[in-house]
Order: sequence, then C-alpha cells, then structure tokens
Amino acid sequence: ADRGELKYEGKAKRVYATGVPGEYIVEFKDDATAFNAQKRGSWQGKGATNNAITAALYPKLEAAGIPTHFIGQLSATEQRVKAVSIVPVEIVVRNVAAGSFAKRLGLEEGTPLARPVIDYCYKSDALGDPLINTDTAVALGWASEEDLKRIRELTLKIRDFLVAFFERRGVRLIDFKLEFGKLPDGEIVLADEISPDTCRFWDLQTNEKMDKDRFRRDLGGVEDAYAEMLRRVTQPD
Ligand code: C5P
Repeated sequence: ADRGELKYEGKAKRVYATGVPGEYIVEFKDDATAFNAQKRGSWQGKGATNNAITAALYPKLEAAGIPTHFIGQLSATEQRVKAVSIVPVEIVVRNVAAGSFAKRLGLEEGTPLARPVIDYCYKSDALGDPLINTDTAVALGWASEEDLKRIRELTLKIRDFLVAFFERRGVRLIDFKLEFGKLPDGEIVLADEISPDTCRFWDLQTNEKMDKDRFRRDLGGVEDAYAEMLRRVTQPD
C-alpha cells in the first residue's frame, strides 16, 4: 500500500502517513506483549486476525451511530483510518470483575457487577498505563471536561452494542479497553482496535477464556481462541 512516514509504533501496531491528507494506514503486527511488555511473544496470523475482527466490528458500530476512525480494510494486516490525535486516556469498561480490577479489590474473577464500571488510565508505556480519574485527565490537559463527557456517552453506547452483539454469538464480554481520537474539527471518534488483545471474552456456555489471557497466563490454545473469535464475529446475525 501507499505507506508514507511512520507516525507511531506501539507494541502491536504501526501507524503510517499516506499520500492522502487526513488519512493514516494502521498495520497490525504479530507481536504480543503483556504485563507492561515484560512478557513478549508473537504468533503468525495474530495481526491479520485482529485486523479482520476490528474491520468487521467498526462498520457495525458506525451503523449503530458510533463515529469511528475506520475507513476500510486495505489488506490482511492493514486498514485505512482517518488521521486523529489520540486522546492519551485509555477507557476500560468492566461488566464483570476480572484482571487488575479483581486483583486490586480482592474479588474473585467472574464476580458480577451491578452496573458497568468505567476506569480511566493514562496511556503511557513508560508508566504502564496507570489508573487515573477524570479530574487528573483534565488537570493535566489530556482531555477537556466536554471531551470526557462525550467519551463517556459514546463508551456506554459502544458497551451496550458490544454486549448484545457478542451475546448473540455465545460470548460474554467481561471487560474491554477503548481509545478515542480527535478529528481536526474537534469531533471525538472511536479509534484503535477492538480485538481479543483488548477485550476479555468468555464462552457463554463454558466460561472458557477466548482472549489474550490465554497468552498472559500461559493457558495454551491462543491461536485457536483468536481464530474462533474471528469466526464468531464474522458469523451472520
Ligand atoms: O489489565 P486489566 O484487567 O485492567 O484489563 C482490563 C481490560 O482492558 C482487558 O480486557 C484488557 O485486555 C484491556 N486492556 C488493554 N490495554 C491496556 C490495559 C487493559 O487492552 N493497556
């Protein structure tokens, strides 16, 4: 593809400028990291699977009224997106206690939550994405009150859509992470990916984990789990 200058390289993706102003190309890598990049791995097809899952989900979110950065899939591992400046606040939505939330609060994984919980983290590899609150984000100039209000509103809409979408496919959406970006005109749009790297998916029948926890916790069967999630996401409604 017509990749230009490398704008950003993260643990699992690269973002390139293109010949078209206002557009970027996102390339999904096969690399996987966990625990603030202390654990590293990689498997063939991981980038393509996450690209395909994200490319299947974003048009459905758009159709449900969520503005996103997604333009279209370009190749197995690449997609075309609108150029945004990423808000350096990661939004973590929790439907069921798991992972760092369960650990921090001494809860058993799988404990249901009476309402969804939104955690905010500062997007910083150097600091390991520390937990913050919205006051901190405003005080340090990472986002305005209005931006955070819009992000919260979009996040809850996305959550409702995703919970129902995955339930129809036999998957419990335990928790997930979102990132938002700003277009030049100030509009907030959903950016980044939604994939087994960024969500916890448990099989509705068996509670089997079908996400990156298989890698984080050395449970085996990572590739099969990602492939199964792609199959379920792309199965017709
Ligand atoms: O680590 P923790 O349990 O807080 O993660 C909550 C959810 O957010 C999980 O689905 C995890 O995959 C996702 N997450 C992420 N990127 C991070 C932190 C968490 O995708 N930097």
